[in-house]
Amino acid sequence: MTQTYRARILTPRSADEVHLIDDAQLVVGDEGRLVEVAPWKGGHCDADLRQHVLVPGFVDAHVHFPQTRSVGAASGPLLTWLNESIFPEEARFSDATHAQQVAVEFCQALASSGTTYALIYGSVHASASEILLNTMDAAGLRGLVGPVLMDRDCPEALQVPVEQAIEEIEGLAERWHGHDGGRLGVAVIPRFALSCSDQMLSRAADLAERLKLKVTTHLAETPGECQAVEQRFGRDYLSVYADHGLLQPGSVFAHCIHLNDPEWGRFKDASAVVAHCPDSNYFLGSGNMPIDKVIAHDIPWALGTDVAAGRSFRVPRTASFAYDNARQLEVSLSPRALFWQGTRGGALALGEARFGALEVGLEADMSLWRVPPWAESADELLASLFFDHDAPPALATWIRGQMVWSAL
Ligand code: GUN
Ligand code: ZN
Repeated sequence: MTQTYRARILTPRSADEVHLIDDAQLVVGDEGRLVEVAPWKGGHCDADLRQHVLVPGFVDAHVHFPQTRSVGAASGPLLTWLNESIFPEEARFSDATHAQQVAVEFCQALASSGTTYALIYGSVHASASEILLNTMDAAGLRGLVGPVLMDRDCPEALQVPVEQAIEEIEGLAERWHGHDGGRLGVAVIPRFALSCSDQMLSRAADLAERLKLKVTTHLAETPGECQAVEQRFGRDYLSVYADHGLLQPGSVFAHCIHLNDPEWGRFKDASAVVAHCPDSNYFLGSGNMPIDKVIAHDIPWALGTDVAAGRSFRVPRTASFAYDNARQLEVSLSPRALFWQGTRGGALALGEARFGALEVGLEADMSLWRVPPWAESADELLASLFFDHDAPPALATWIRGQMVWSAL
């Protein structure tokens, strides 16, 4: 049914232009698409939301479902943190009851954060990814999910042999990829080079190519990890993924902190995508991501919360850390640019043109936020949205026009 909202809307048009309508008429048609976005014309409205600010839903390019309960596990740098805090928790996802409970918590965390699209890493268990997809489906959420692939250098309980892992993803993809008009889908996720045999990396690439699935993984997050990769494979980190067929147009690489200049050039030439996870980078002490290189090479990028190395499911908080990261490098990354990257720009970087802005023709993925009464201009509203870490969760979130969260 068509819904008409009267609202104050703020939407990005580019990395430096935003559009604010204080009193807007926003009409969502039967298909969940925006059919009108214009100044208020009068007449009936289903809800008057003008006290707050309505923005596009946020896009999270990198988040770990089985780490939902691990936020704040402050056990040290990446490899120590994985072994001490993360692998034991992820092993619990062989248990369907645990996976189901956490899936509900995870979906609530996404929706209450105003996140309307996410690229989601599962545990190694295909059964847990299936539970999450079912739970997301019932909740009306949108995203890509995949079990992480691991067959070496991690606890035995977390190793899945290559054939089994590939077959399980094929099964998941058959049931879920493109589900409900593409609201849900499956991704191919070798966890990182160190947790995969050569065969696993190659078979993952084959599978992604055969089923046209997106590839995502971690890349060059810490110096220790890069050294271990160099030692094992005898080449630089990006070459490892490239040589196994994983460096494809649209492949999404999280972190990318410690790449050398030739690697950046090859990354750009490959039309790969960066998931920038600055909160995680600070929490694990992984380093400052050279966002200046990403910008100079005109590499597509999106923000990733990277829960649980990231401490919040909220993309706006990640954006605030991205601002800090850029300041450390004396790079200017404006709130307007962060708004773009966290919504429409991030969606486009991930190959999704259907949503990300409040524009006629796009799907109505939206979130509503409380802002202080004195915040009036676009820049004041952005300051509150992105830099007020004390702000409460989203007041409401919609995906394709369906309300998936409400605290109204
Ligand atoms: N590298 C391999 N696995 C992980 C993970 O779970 N989180 C982060 N931040 N980096 C990783
Ligand atoms: Zn991660």
